[in-house]
Amino acid sequence: MVNVAINGYGTIGKRIADAVTAQDDMSVAGVTKTKPDFEARLAIEKGYELYAVIPEKQGDFKKAGINIAGTIHDLLKHADIVVDCAPGGIGAENKPMYEKAGVKAIFEGGEKHDVAGLSFNAMCNYDKAIGRDFIRVVSCNTTGICRVLYPLDQAFGVEKARVVLVRRATDPADIKKGPINAIVPDPVK
Ligand SMILES: NC(=O)c1ccc[n+]([C@@H]2O[C@H](COP(=O)([O-])OP(=O)(O)OC[C@H]3O[C@@H](n4cnc5c(N)ncnc54)[C@H](OP(=O)(O)O)[C@@H]3O)[C@@H](O)[C@H]2O)c1
Repeated sequence: MVNVAINGYGTIGKRIADAVTAQDDMSVAGVTKTKPDFEARLAIEKGYELYAVIPEKQGDFKKAGINIAGTIHDLLKHADIVVDCAPGGIGAENKPMYEKAGVKAIFEGGEKHDVAGLSFNAMCNYDKAIGRDFIRVVSCNTTGICRVLYPLDQAFGVEKARVVLVRRATDPADIKKGPINAIVPDPVK
């Protein structure tokens, strides 16, 4: 059984936790949050052990009545691999912590290629990822492009592609970035 830690239980982290739970050879070792908001409550409701990213802020969770199992450092002690789902750029800052803990890591597309030295898409370069300590999953946009272009390239050869991306509205907590089908209870200042 592979114990998977998820550092950052946000938009992507939530989905990865559920995807890991659906596998029969992996389990979620725990998930992390910096603050005790609705996502922290959701993690507990779903049965995931919750850990604090910032050790000094453990008290905030207690005050909000949310039980935590410790800090990210405690979580890494019983994880085989961590999926870093922190906001873009934070993964690079987290990498030395994973190296020190001797835990393999998967970074998300908000990180630069250099954070892992291999940008990964399961359809295109699965074999290259085997045995590596660090990989970075390409962004959602690049994933979409890879899934369409790779099979076309394999079958016919693609010399050049002109691509139009049609994206969904922004994430629930990011209303400032664009249109979203959400009610905002408080005027945005
Ligand atoms: N959203 C998308 O559609 C999408 C698609 C593809 C790739 N990505 C990539 O996935 C990554 C995560 O994006 P997201 O959209 O899931 O972001 P998000 O919804 O903002 O979630 C980020 C999570 O990281 C936590 N966090 C904050 N600071 C942290 C730290 N220092 N260490 C660890 N965790 C920390 C946050 O906890 P608190 O809320 O408690 O602070 C939150 O749970 C980014 O690299 C992004 O580019 C996103």
